[in-house]
Amino acid sequence: MKDLKAILTTVEQLFREETFLAAPKGLYEPIEYTMSLGGKRIRPTMLLAANQMFGGDERNAVNAAIGIELFHNFTLLHDDLMDQSPLRRGKATVYRKWNPNTAILSGDTMFALAWRYMLKTETTRLSDILNCFNETAIEVCEGQQYDMDFEQQQDVSIADYMMMIRKKTAVLLAGALQIGATIANADSDDIANLYDFGIHLGLAFQLQDDWLDTYGDVALFGKQTGQDIIDNKKTYMILRACELASPAQCDELHRLFGQNTQTDGESAKKISDVLSIYSAVGLRAEAENAIAAEFAKAYESLDRLKVSESAKLPLVQLSESLLGRKK
Ligand code: IPE
Ligand code: IPE
Ligand code: MG
Ligand code: MG
Ligand code: MG
Repeated sequence: MKDLKAILTTVEQLFREETFLAAPKGLYEPIEYTMSLGGKRIRPTMLLAANQMFGGDERNAVNAAIGIELFHNFTLLHDDLMDQSPLRRGKATVYRKWNPNTAILSGDTMFALAWRYMLKTETTRLSDILNCFNETAIEVCEGQQYDMDFEQQQDVSIADYMMMIRKKTAVLLAGALQIGATIANADSDDIANLYDFGIHLGLAFQLQDDWLDTYGDVALFGKQTGQDIIDNKKTYMILRACELASPAQCDELHRLFGQNTQTDGESAKKISDVLSIYSAVGLRAEAENAIAAEFAKAYESLDRLKVSESAKLPLVQLSESLLGRKK
C-alpha cells in the first residue's frame, strides 16, 4: 500500500515519461509548457489513491490519471483567458506567452487528448468511467459560466456561490475519486461516500483558493493576488464581507465591485480599498472558519467508507497537506 508521498512520486514519474510535443509546434508547445510546469497534481493523485483504496491495479488507472490532469489543465488555459490572469505556477499564462487563439485551440486539443487517455483505460466499466468524465466536464463548464455571469450580477447569495464552486471545482475532485474507485470495482455506497468526500474537499479547496487570492503570497501561490477583486468575482470573500459589513461599508463594496479598472494604479487602489473593509469586518478569520467547516464535512464522508483506516491514509494525508496550503 503506497502512502501519499509514494503516489505523488508515481504521478510525477508518469508526467516525466509523457511528452505532449508533436507537430504543429504552435499547437503542442503550449501543451507541453503547461503540463511540464507541474502544479500540485492533486486530481491524478486522488484518482490513484481511490483506486488503491479498493484494491485496484495501478496500471489500469494511470491512463485515466493522465486524462484527468490533462482535462484540468485544459480548463486552466481557458480560465486564464476568461479571467485575464497574467500568472500561473509562477510563469506567464498561455494566452499571454502566446496569444488568446493559442489558449483556445491548445486547450481544446487537451480536452480531446484527455479523452484519448480515458479511452485507453482497461476495465469492464469503461462506459461508467466515460460517463462520469463527460458529466463532470459539462458541470465544470456550467460552473465557469455561472462564475462569469456572477461578475455582472449584484444579488449573488452565498448559496449561489457554493453551487457555482461545486460545479466549477468540486465535481472534478469528486469525479477523479469516482473514476479511480470505479476502475477498482468499488461498490455504489462507497463510491457515493467517496464522491461526497471529494465534493466537500473541493468546496474547501476553492474557498481556500479565494482566500489565497486575497491573502496569499504571490511567490508561493504562483498566481496574481487581488485578481478576483480586479475581475469583480463574487467569491465567498466579498459575499461574506457584505453580510458582516455596515450598510455604508456594504454600499462601498458594491461600488468598488462595480468598477472596471483600466490601469495598474487603479487596480492597486481598488484592491487596497477592498482589503481595508475586509480587515475592518474581520473577514480573514471568518473565511478560515468556513474552510475548516468544509474540511470537517469531508472527513465525515471519509469516515463512512467501508474500508480500513490504513486504506484511507493517503486521502487523509492529502487532506492534511491541503489544509493551510500556501499554493
Ligand atoms: C487551480 O487548481 C484551479 C482551481 C480549481 C482553484 P490547482 O490549484 O489544483 O492548480 P495546480 O494544478 O496545482 O496548478
Ligand atoms: C477555477 O477558478 C475553476 C476552473 C479553472 C475550472 P479560478 O478562476 O478561481 O481558478 P484560478 O484561481 O484561476 O486557478
Ligand atoms: Mg482564474
Ligand atoms: Mg476563473
Ligand atoms: Mg482563483
